[in-house]
Amino acid sequence: MSVLQQYRSDAGQFRTSVDSDREFARLIESAEELSYDPDQEIDWDAPLDDTKYGLNPQWSTLYGTHLWDRMVESQRIALTRHEVGSIMSTGIWFETMLQHMILRAQYSADYGDSAFRFSLIEIADECRHSLMFSKTCSKMGVPHYRPLRAFHELGRAFKTLSSPEMSFGAILVAEEILDIMQRDWMRGDDVLEEVRTTSKIHVLEEARHMKYARLEIIERMKSIGAARRNTSATVIAVVASVIVESLVNHEVYTNVGLDKTESVKAKRANTHHQDLMRMSCVHLMDFLSEAGLLNRPAMSLYRASHML
Ligand SMILES: [Fe+2]
Ligand SMILES: [Fe+2]
Repeated sequence: MSVLQQYRSDAGQFRTSVDSDREFARLIESAEELSYDPDQEIDWDAPLDDTKYGLNPQWSTLYGTHLWDRMVESQRIALTRHEVGSIMSTGIWFETMLQHMILRAQYSADYGDSAFRFSLIEIADECRHSLMFSKTCSKMGVPHYRPLRAFHELGRAFKTLSSPEMSFGAILVAEEILDIMQRDWMRGDDVLEEVRTTSKIHVLEEARHMKYARLEIIERMKSIGAARRNTSATVIAVVASVIVESLVNHEVYTNVGLDKTESVKAKRANTHHQDLMRMSCVHLMDFLSEAGLLNRPAMSLYRASHML
């Protein structure tokens, strides 16, 4: 079956599921009750608090290393602002891919279908998210970091060619990773107000996106065979590795006056950060396993990225 036929048949099968329809109606209600306008929630013109971190220090890639101990407080603050800026820019990169993938998956959908309507709500949410991340980076005065050129091009191919379960698998992985970090950032007393608020908005609105991605994965997995399931599991794990590797651009170290080679070495050996990542991905791994998307090659890739 060609990818095009698969999309058509998937859309058809999906529409017949009454339970799914009810779930989507609930997601639409949640969006009507709980949606934020970042421009109302954040004062973009207020001065930045010099004493606050960009993210909880415990989430810094260098926290707990000898380099962190050597840094003065102002350098630690600067590093966490560049790190959170890089993560937000990676978020924008992924949200642009996500919007493209969702539109592709819904191209043949019934325009009166609740799944179709919810997908449009999700795209509207992601537009607001990318805008608020972009404005927060500008306000913090950090660069709008980009992923490595090779990853950027891989992303272009993936968003254009991925099957529906690959798309929603990758979407779920990206959303889950960000969700756990942002739950800490939104509660951090020593974190910039702008980051706390954008994190709160993102966590609350992404809860419905993750539900949507899980529903889509469960539905789409019903109609695929073992060979395709294995390919999709591996591809999703490759995308997850690329996302994790891209979160903190290595230029952040140079930009706060650290030696890049020494910093990257310290980051790669930072067991504290690796433990945090593993703990954050427990529920995600459980779900992927239940969905049949955790085969041997995928597990090796997740282990190498410290997600398992
Ligand atoms: Fe988002
Ligand atoms: Fe999302």
